[in-house]
Amino acid sequence: MIDDLKKHLAEVENFSTDNLDTVESFRIKYLGKKGLLNQFFAEFKNVSAEDKKEYGQTINELKDKTTKKVNDLKNQLNNKKVLNKKFQDLTRPSEPIEIGARHPISIVKNQIIDIFSRIGFNVSEGPEIEDDWHNFTALNLPEHHPARDMQDTFFIQTNPDILLRTHTSSVQVRYMENNKPPIRTISPGRVYRNEAISARSHCFFHQIEGLYIDKNVSFADLKQTLQFFTNELFGKSKIRLRPSYFPFTEPSAEVDVYWGLESETDYKMTKGTGWLEIMGCGMVDPNVLENCGIDSKIYSGFAFGMGIDRIALLLHQISDIRLLSENDIRFLEQFKSAL
Ligand code: PHE
Repeated sequence: MIDDLKKHLAEVENFSTDNLDTVESFRIKYLGKKGLLNQFFAEFKNVSAEDKKEYGQTINELKDKTTKKVNDLKNQLNNKKVLNKKFQDLTRPSEPIEIGARHPISIVKNQIIDIFSRIGFNVSEGPEIEDDWHNFTALNLPEHHPARDMQDTFFIQTNPDILLRTHTSSVQVRYMENNKPPIRTISPGRVYRNEAISARSHCFFHQIEGLYIDKNVSFADLKQTLQFFTNELFGKSKIRLRPSYFPFTEPSAEVDVYWGLESETDYKMTKGTGWLEIMGCGMVDPNVLENCGIDSKIYSGFAFGMGIDRIALLLHQISDIRLLSENDIRFLEQFKSAL
């Protein structure tokens, strides 16, 4: 009896065909209701006690191998069918080659870098995991300074000196420490703040900050630089500077660009004023220059910083900042034609 089973095992192992109907008759022969396997199972009770173990194992092996064989052959032959169909039509256009798209953050970041590089700014980068000195203290925010509350910070629990940078001003500190004026640099990068996630804000986003240091740099230079920038990015535009406060600049200002009030969306976006706030700026505080080893009696400079995400939302009419980090292919695909 076991020999009989083994004969079938060999038959199953050697079975092959390129015809789906033959596979089906093979399946019925072995696995059908009245098939061989059921017959062998029925015989089990007649097998002598000492043979039961081997008989049982062999019959299970036969069942597994047959099922696998049937499934494999079916898959193989079905795939072949699909392939044959495809290759029969020689006039069929080839499969399109999918091209990727740049992320809107990269597109806008590159646009901004491009504008500033035309007026002599280079690009500098620094670490996202920062120390207290570069993110706060060197920027005129000593420990316990109330202005530290302006930015809720992610600290590393075991070491309060280490944190996720809250702005890319930290890169400017590093740049000043390592380079002599004249300095003209912009620092793009990801920054982190402990904020609730909503359509308008996220706990991580991107900034570009700029720094210009030389002899006799004035507020007028700052304003002209920003006017050049907004004209290039938004088309000819009107800007205004509103007095503001940052610990690392004095005087400081917020920059608004005139967006217009032509549609209902314009009303919503500008809260009915027509103006959009796009960045912070100011003359670098002499304390900051000194902290970074630059003689504030000889040199002066300006700095500015803006959120790339916010500008990307504006330029591409995106309604929710979360879309920028969700990696939904349907969203990302829409930027294929952009730069
Ligand atoms: N670092 C500021 C911020 O993150 C922006 C800024 C940069 C303001 C430079 C003034 C000068 O909000």
